[in-house]
Amino acid sequence: AIERTLSIIKPDATRRNLTGKINDKFETAGLSIIATRRLQLTKAQAEAFYAVHSHRPFFGDLVSFMISGPVVAQVLEGENAIMQNRDIMGATDPKKADAGTIRADFAESIEANSVHGSDSPEAAAQEISFFFAGIDITA
Ligand code: CMP
Repeated sequence: AIERTLSIIKPDATRRNLTGKINDKFETAGLSIIATRRLQLTKAQAEAFYAVHSHRPFFGDLVSFMISGPVVAQVLEGENAIMQNRDIMGATDPKKADAGTIRADFAESIEANSVHGSDSPEAAAQEISFFFAGIDITA
């Protein structure tokens, strides 16, 4: 089925001007970028976005990293987009990511891992609405 998922290009990647190279991987794989915005998250916004991880030991470092520079939040649309995006990203830990994935090619560490992607249809709906209003997504 055609799905939508929320992607974030993280500060380690925007800092190195990798937005275009990362978007090329999405588009080459057949995912369409149907909404996009570059923004600087506030601490409160980063904490809210990652609230599900608030009890994890890495939460504070994750929030600090996510506000260390601009991010690019995007809606990707395509066949099986949620799982397809996760395949294109590769494993969270770049040392475990398959060759050719975004994280294998570009990530610096398990934290500075270049991209985020929604992990379920429920998360996708919630995360898309975190960054975008319906009027912003015109496909
Ligand atoms: P993301 O898919 O954005 O979801 C949570 C993020 O926490 C993850 O990618 C990593 O960037 C970050 N993170 C930092 N340390 C860890 C860890 N030990 N395990 C999982 N995620 C981590």
